Amino acid sequence: MSRTLVGNIGLLVTNDSSFDGTPLGLVTNAAFLIERGTISWIGEMDSAPRAEVANYIDAHGRCIIPGFVDSHAHLIFAGDRSEEFRARMQGERYSSGGIDSTVQLTRQADNGHLLQSGRRLVAEANASGTTTIECKSGYGLTVEDEARQLVVARQLTEETTFLGAHVVPKEYADSPDDYVDLVCGPMLDAAKPHAKWIDVFCDKGAFTGDQARKILKAGMAKGLLPRIHANQLEPGEGVQVGVELGAASVDHVTYLSDADIDLLSGSKTLATLLPAAEFSTRSVYSDARRLFEAGVKVALASDCNPGSSYTTNIPFVIALAVRELHFSPEQAIWSATKGGAMALRRKDVGHLGLSAQANFSILSTPSYIHLAYRPGVPLIDEVWRNGTRIK
Ligand code: NIG
Ligand code: FE
Repeated sequence: MSRTLVGNIGLLVTNDSSFDGTPLGLVTNAAFLIERGTISWIGEMDSAPRAEVANYIDAHGRCIIPGFVDSHAHLIFAGDRSEEFRARMQGERYSSGGIDSTVQLTRQADNGHLLQSGRRLVAEANASGTTTIECKSGYGLTVEDEARQLVVARQLTEETTFLGAHVVPKEYADSPDDYVDLVCGPMLDAAKPHAKWIDVFCDKGAFTGDQARKILKAGMAKGLLPRIHANQLEPGEGVQVGVELGAASVDHVTYLSDADIDLLSGSKTLATLLPAAEFSTRSVYSDARRLFEAGVKVALASDCNPGSSYTTNIPFVIALAVRELHFSPEQAIWSATKGGAMALRRKDVGHLGLSAQANFSILSTPSYIHLAYRPGVPLIDEVWRNGTRIK
């Protein structure tokens, strides 16, 4: 049995508060042991077990953090929307209408092409420290195209999400309720074997609260777990529906009423903030401080997609969260690791504790603060997943 000791870690983020009484569970001059891809010991370097260690990784005093858990991404699509972005930066508003152009190109693309472009995005994400990533369908919007998007997504990650209710496709513009029936019936049946989650875009130009409730309930009845795109473009019922159905997370929440915050604070549902979407659509940012004050647990994710947020880079998201949403660096790191894991209901990732997956990044810096303090600079030296180096 091969044991790898990672030692001489200047600062280790474990997300286990028993180490220092704070959510990040910091250990200085730390070490941990990896056996069969998981953490089997963690603590101070001086007391590290040395017997039968086959490999020793010297962190040379650098900071190690858990791998990022990106709980919200749309990675299976063809083409890009750079012209739409250009127009937006010159004053056009973002709307759900742009999704249709990606749908048209995605329907025409074969599975090999979709897989190759999805793999490229996952490789980008890995290189910037992400070791778990969620992936939604939602650019097929036919029974066959949604199912094949999920078949491709499953080759990239186990965290796959059926988002047939992304928008109402053109063919159903005059009969949106027929599209909702299609999503709840044959499309759900075709998607279900390849998905863990079901999601709905509940917003202006997409689906109403009642439609979202119906679709999520249909998915839950077939064993999928609910999550929801809520209140990105305007205030609405998304948070209410998400909390009512016990969604793991309500995502975006750019617009939040006091009632939404009350509902979230009394629930187990996380709020997942996606500041890169707000950045790229020149939107206002979510009011994270109100969420923190109310004790709501908050995750940070990329929302990588070709329309509203074409980035896989979580360090960029962290820098935005700190600069624009007033997260502390500690809150931002926690939200991008443990928060993401909670938003995916995963206990084995997003922290470095006994029997967690050995998923971590070695930064080039002595502290995690540098991820916000040195924006845009590639500070992720090494990335490890399941005890294997992937960068
Ligand atoms: O999460 N809000 C809905 N869906 C995506 C955007 C999709 C697109 O514009 O292609 C989002 O931002
Ligand atoms: Fe999204």
